[in-house]
Amino acid sequence: MKKVLVTGGAGYIGSHTCIELLGQGYEVVVVDNLSNSDPEALHRVEQISGKKLQFVELDIRSADALEQVFQAHDFFAVIHFAGLKAVGESVAQPLKYFDNNIHGSQVLLDVMQRHHVFNIVFSSSATVYGDPESVPIQESFPLTALNPYGRTKLVVEDMLRDLGASDSRWQAVLLRYFNPVGAHPCGLIGEDPSDIPNNLMPYISQVAVGRLASLSVFGGDYPTHDGTGVRDYIHVVDLAKGHLAALEHLQLEPGVVAYNLGTGNGYSVLDMVAAFAAVSGRDIPYQIVDRRAGDSAECYADPSLAKSKLGWEAELGLDAMTRDSWNWQSKNPGGYASPKP
Ligand code: NAD
Ligand code: UFG
Repeated sequence: MKKVLVTGGAGYIGSHTCIELLGQGYEVVVVDNLSNSDPEALHRVEQISGKKLQFVELDIRSADALEQVFQAHDFFAVIHFAGLKAVGESVAQPLKYFDNNIHGSQVLLDVMQRHHVFNIVFSSSATVYGDPESVPIQESFPLTALNPYGRTKLVVEDMLRDLGASDSRWQAVLLRYFNPVGAHPCGLIGEDPSDIPNNLMPYISQVAVGRLASLSVFGGDYPTHDGTGVRDYIHVVDLAKGHLAALEHLQLEPGVVAYNLGTGNGYSVLDMVAAFAAVSGRDIPYQIVDRRAGDSAECYADPSLAKSKLGWEAELGLDAMTRDSWNWQSKNPGGYASPKP
């Protein structure tokens, strides 16, 4: 049975990916420092999948702690989710992001190399396209960073491209996620931001459940069908499945390759509000305010490369995304701190 190391596996996307890995018969070892997650997520992963995983609480910047994990296990590959992801915080505290995301990745890659583990799937982001000149976005579009968070993604992508050029044993799949939303359909795991959410979907869910009073819609004068920003929302279960396809791909095509994981469909903020209100039966009060600095009008993927090369495409639509987000939020109004549903 192939064994996979999942860094940041207790987090939102990592926990959903662990379910898919266990379901496909992989052995899973998770390392996470729990800086933005709750170990309860991993208990629930085991409950949902009916299988056990191993969890080691550590910070990937600790080479000694990682070394022990690599000595104890023979990994086929690493899926590298561990990282900080709040754009605004990265602008205020860039060094924190460089240290956690860049230095942390460097320590991980160094330990991997010493143990001859050369297969990695990396959580990149559509943010590496900056403010794209046109949509849909293809992988060949120019790359740039609009903020320190985005820069960390770009630097780690570059590190992996440099490693691939230095030694052909390195094989990396760089997955550029668009906007992950939704939750596992059972409602036991989902997104549980520790602070007031920065992202649209968890914000809407918390308004619907009564934790927040109303949504601020950032800008009503974009050149889009209703004036609000358009994004490519992708169900987290589809995204998790993309990682399984990437693992298989590592064995087929050598080198360092990037793929967009998106649906190719763009929805506006008000489309999302209307869809969420319809599935939840709740009012989502909102007011249109100024644009948020750094936001683009439209961002959606051309996902055709992932379809042709990985054999992967998103299957779940807006209904499933909003229904499953609401199912998680309504069953766990306070996130993992709520009594177990
Ligand atoms: P998350 O915060 O829920 O998960 C990240 C996990 O990594 C957390 O459990 C956190 O505790 C852990 N972690 C952070 N720093 C660590 C360190 N130094 N050592 C060990 N563990 C550490 O975030 P997520 O939404 O699941 O995102 C996963 C990855 O995908 C991140 O790298 C993120 O940048 C990337 N990504 C996320 C989105 C999104 O919108 N959610 C979009 C594009 C890319
Ligand atoms: N929005 C609001 N109000 C809010 C939050 C968001 O109107 O309270 C709007 C934004 O202006 C944007 C859309 O909702 O038009 C989506 O915003 P998010 O913050 O949910 O997502 P972004 O597209 O800004 O960014 C997300 C991640 C980034 C990642 C990017 C591409 O936060 O880390 O997707 O993957 F880089």
